[in-house]
Amino acid sequence: MSKKTLTITDNRNGNLYEFDIKKGSCGPDVADLTSFYEKTGMFVYDPGFKSTASCSSEITFIDGEKGVLLHRGYEIEELAEKSDYYEVCYLLLNGDLPDNKNKEKFINILTHHTMLHEQIQRFYSGFRRDSHPMAVMVGIVGALSSFYPEKTYDFSSEKGKWVAVSRLLAKIPTMAAMAYKYSLGQPFIYPKNNLSYSENFLHMLFSTPCGEYKPSKASIDALDKLLILHADHEQNASTSTVKIAGSSGANPFACVAAGVASLWGPAHGGANESVIRMLNIIEHEQHINKFLKKAKDPSDPFRLMGFGHRVYKSHDPRANVLRKYCHNLLKEVDNFNVPLFKLATKLEEIALNDDYFIKKQLYPNVDFYSGIILKALGLPESMFTVIFAVARTVGWISQWKEMTESDNRISRPRQLYNGKKTRKFVKINDRKSKHELFLDYNQ
Ligand code: CMC
Repeated sequence: MSKKTLTITDNRNGNLYEFDIKKGSCGPDVADLTSFYEKTGMFVYDPGFKSTASCSSEITFIDGEKGVLLHRGYEIEELAEKSDYYEVCYLLLNGDLPDNKNKEKFINILTHHTMLHEQIQRFYSGFRRDSHPMAVMVGIVGALSSFYPEKTYDFSSEKGKWVAVSRLLAKIPTMAAMAYKYSLGQPFIYPKNNLSYSENFLHMLFSTPCGEYKPSKASIDALDKLLILHADHEQNASTSTVKIAGSSGANPFACVAAGVASLWGPAHGGANESVIRMLNIIEHEQHINKFLKKAKDPSDPFRLMGFGHRVYKSHDPRANVLRKYCHNLLKEVDNFNVPLFKLATKLEEIALNDDYFIKKQLYPNVDFYSGIILKALGLPESMFTVIFAVARTVGWISQWKEMTESDNRISRPRQLYNGKKTRKFVKINDRKSKHELFLDYNQ
């Protein structure tokens, strides 16, 4: 079969340039432009990476048009229904689902590294009591790098990589739960190694020294499914951040702290928070139609939070699964009678049957249900992105590991420079400033 190539014509001079086309196992082909600058003397301009495949990966595949999400070839719906978070972590990291022996070994490793060094605990008291828990998470995850330094751990070796993987996965729920407890002023609750990942996480979040929290099956299931459904999502902003940081050979704990920072933004991990904020604004079922009208009005910036998706254009496969567990949770703890959740289910029902939303294919996305689940579990909105970070840690570290095992070069994008050309230096007494300095002493 002849080699597939892409030919680009430079209309300024008629020069032709040929580039190889690479075929993946699924999804669009890619034009290999690694030699673009060398051949043409030009850079490729793609802000926001809308047309850029930044790497080759075997971990996750998304087909947004068809609403498909595969991890290592398995459909997310099947993984969520038939496996648990441990198995999905193992799968993302190793490429296959574990057999019984390997699953037991994996669980054993994770459960025996759940505690934090006592010295790390003291870091928490350095944060303001009213800090956003994501601010605490950026600091604490980054601080782990001082407990796992390069002089002791060779993170380029297989053994070193697994130290980073196992410690991060085991300790991230502990760090997250402590960030929550700190915000409440309650004592930290130590992990319990006889509990499953999700059950232990709920225990550390909600138990107190005065009373043990016994989560319902629906709560454990809902959290476990939520963790599975947020475990990885291809080369998104936070994953790319972890990989760009890691491409320089930086400590993996510091790289994951960079991922936590990237996730924090409202355009990424913060959407489920805005679902609850929106429900609070709508306030009552009677107001739904008024807000639907606003959402449909192109001159009104109001949008239904938790509806629509940039990549999934037919449906969000994660939302379909989470919807079921969300409804189970609301049923079991009789939350359907709590006004906020009653309002959410009514809004879901009305929007799903509304012509505008049907025509534009705007259906509830994963954040609609994760926001409601986390609220029903009793967490404040400020913790929602933290829970997302716990779930996504496995995606970050799997993609980091894959990158370090491939032909990795430091990520170093170029730019279209639009600033001043070379100009002469002017001595301070000869300068006339055009700008007032914005900052003053009080800012
Ligand atoms: N409510 C009302 N109208 C909407 C909404 C919405 N939530 N989403 C899109 N539309 C309309 C939009 O006004 C536009 O109408 P028109 O064709 O008349 O201009 C049309 O649908 C297409 O919208 P778009 O903005 O071009 O679509 P997009 O792909 O750029 O936006 C989105 C995707 C997720 C930013 C958007 O749907 C949105 O703002 N949704 C609400 C916020 C939200 O739930 N975000 C979480 C997404 S899931 C995140 C994750 O996977 O981690």
